[in-house]
Amino acid sequence: MNSLIICFILFVSLQFTNGTEIEFNIVDVPRYFTPLNDDIFLSGSFNNWSPNHPLYKFKRLSSNLFKLNIDLPLGTYQYKFTRGSWSTGETSIDGSFFQNRNLQITSTTKQTHLIKISNWDDFKGTHTITGNVYILHSKFPYPQFNTTKSIWIYLPPDYYTSFKSYPVLYMHDAQNLFDKATSFVGEWGIDEILESNFLNGKETAIVVGLETKIERMDELTPYSNPTYGGGKGEKYVDFLINDLKPYIDRNYRTKPSREFTGIAGSSLGGLMSFYAGLKNQNIFSKLGVFSPSFWFNSTIHELADSAVKYSDTKIYMVCGEQEGSISMVDNMFKMVDRLTLKGYNNLNYFVRSYGTHSEWFWNKEFPNAFDWLFG
Ligand SMILES: *[C@@H]1O[C@H](CO)[C@@H](O)[C@H](O)[C@H]1NC(C)=O
Ligand SMILES: *[C@@H]1O[C@H](CO)[C@@H](O)[C@H](O)[C@H]1NC(C)=O
Repeated sequence: MNSLIICFILFVSLQFTNGTEIEFNIVDVPRYFTPLNDDIFLSGSFNNWSPNHPLYKFKRLSSNLFKLNIDLPLGTYQYKFTRGSWSTGETSIDGSFFQNRNLQITSTTKQTHLIKISNWDDFKGTHTITGNVYILHSKFPYPQFNTTKSIWIYLPPDYYTSFKSYPVLYMHDAQNLFDKATSFVGEWGIDEILESNFLNGKETAIVVGLETKIERMDELTPYSNPTYGGGKGEKYVDFLINDLKPYIDRNYRTKPSREFTGIAGSSLGGLMSFYAGLKNQNIFSKLGVFSPSFWFNSTIHELADSAVKYSDTKIYMVCGEQEGSISMVDNMFKMVDRLTLKGYNNLNYFVRSYGTHSEWFWNKEFPNAFDWLFG
């Protein structure tokens, strides 16, 4: 009897010192915009509103389920969720300010809360994503530029229901590929195009997108320009080939060999796709070169001569007559001539009378390019 009482007193005092157990179950997060490698934190009046306190970090159970148990003394509290900072805090569905959540603890009975997070502050706007598009990593280490890079991924519709391995297309400017809200002036609609390919029984692929920010001019240009500078593209290529591609091949069901690996982009991204692809034909065999900025530095034309040529490398080039510069068309033909002279015969190139320097144009041209490169 005595020991029972002691046990009871111990139990009560433990409850008193530890407070009440509160269990938070996040059962829904913004599907496309909760980066797969980001952590979620609980921030509130009980931890001085720290947006990233390690003791308040959720355990990730799946891509949209998270769990955290804490103990709090009786009282009234306010709280919110973040992905590690206040610029990545939760918002209302339309991106507007979200009121603090309230928590009242009036007894020591365990509380369980089911939480739905509608949106995040860094992904406001009208989203247009379809299919399996994710931000794979919002802060992929990018030591070549002493920073981090956001990496996006598109997985074919049957990725999770098959054991298939897929070709991979690497693309630049990920923020413009899938979503209107994150894009500069419009999106390519890569997700819609490949979803439609799948429905029509055509070829699909995994698409890996590298987001570009302020370093873009440096990253995507292999040579410098007297007006615009740049010219650090070799470091970007090093990251893509030696850090990112091995990571993707380790973590996803890819066909990693050159026969199944492509690179594509537009403008400076077209220049970079041509440069990285032609120079590294041991890695890439499919080059999608849209409205390439060959004008940036004419040294690019010499690459056709110096690159080690593989006979099956496919190069697709397209530009428009309304891109605001005659040299776009001239430069492309000049490159075609040079490549033809060097014996590249898997070349497909077009000049479109309606072509402008815009995502609208690249969206229109992408299906043809993709089907030819991967078909
Ligand atoms: C890299 O960035 C960090 C902080 O962002 C800075 O402290 C450090 O000096 C930088 N290193 C180099 C080599 O630039
Ligand atoms: C082209 O790039 C090379 C290497 O970056 C540079 O040395 C050269 O000056 C550039 N040419 C022009 C016209 O800027």
